[in-house]
Amino acid sequence: MSPSDHTLLAGRVQLLDVTEGILEELLDVALADAAPDDVTPPLGETDGWNPERIGWFRDYHRAAAAGLDGPAAQKTWTISCDGQVAGSIRLKRPGTAPPEGGPLETGLWLGRSFRGRGIGREALTLVGEMAARAGASILQAETTAGNLAAQALLRSAGAKLAGGGVAGDGGASTVTARINLR
Ligand SMILES: CC(C)(COP(=O)(O)OP(=O)(O)OC[C@H]1O[C@@H](n2cnc3c(N)ncnc32)[C@H](O)[C@@H]1OP(=O)(O)O)[C@@H](O)C(=O)NCCC(=O)NCCS
Repeated sequence: MSPSDHTLLAGRVQLLDVTEGILEELLDVALADAAPDDVTPPLGETDGWNPERIGWFRDYHRAAAAGLDGPAAQKTWTISCDGQVAGSIRLKRPGTAPPEGGPLETGLWLGRSFRGRGIGREALTLVGEMAARAGASILQAETTAGNLAAQALLRSAGAKLAGGGVAGDGGASTVTARINLR
């Protein structure tokens, strides 16, 4: 089964395709309830949510609509909890010519009002199932040494974490997480 057009349900958490209809709802949650750096790369000249970041957000999700086998080699979903848009999660093929069955990358964000309730953990379980269906044996993610919530989430999903041990970098160094899917 293609993971590109699937909706999966775990308890009260669902992963939904980011259709044009849901894209603006997802953007509203991001603007109202998440820091720009949780959701987009640093872009533009002004702090906070700016037109460059908002443009990137729409382009990014539209490009990912074609799925893992599309030009962006990436698929994004809306994380929905009890019918409410809560955030977003992604799967991506790393590199330019990843091997068949190679690792897939993930990353996610939730609106602040949805954090700390087990929603990230359920979303990660669902995306792990998607990745396994796509043939991956490893799910990997990157965060920073300072992002304790992300590290706790990844550990609770069974990830082995490496890196992040750079003293005096203010928590900015990269931590890599690998979850075995088999
Ligand atoms: C990281 C994030 C997705 C976590 O999602 P969440 O729904 O709040 O996490 P959960 O409630 O499912 O918690 C999962 C585990 O992490 C722990 N945890 C969650 N937030 C935590 C925090 N701020 N500090 C310490 N532990 C935390 C929980 O206790 C739980 O551990 P357990 O399974 O051992 O009980 C959320 O904080 C977020 O959106 N942050 C901003 C974006 C971001 O940093 N994304 C990560 C990119 S990889």
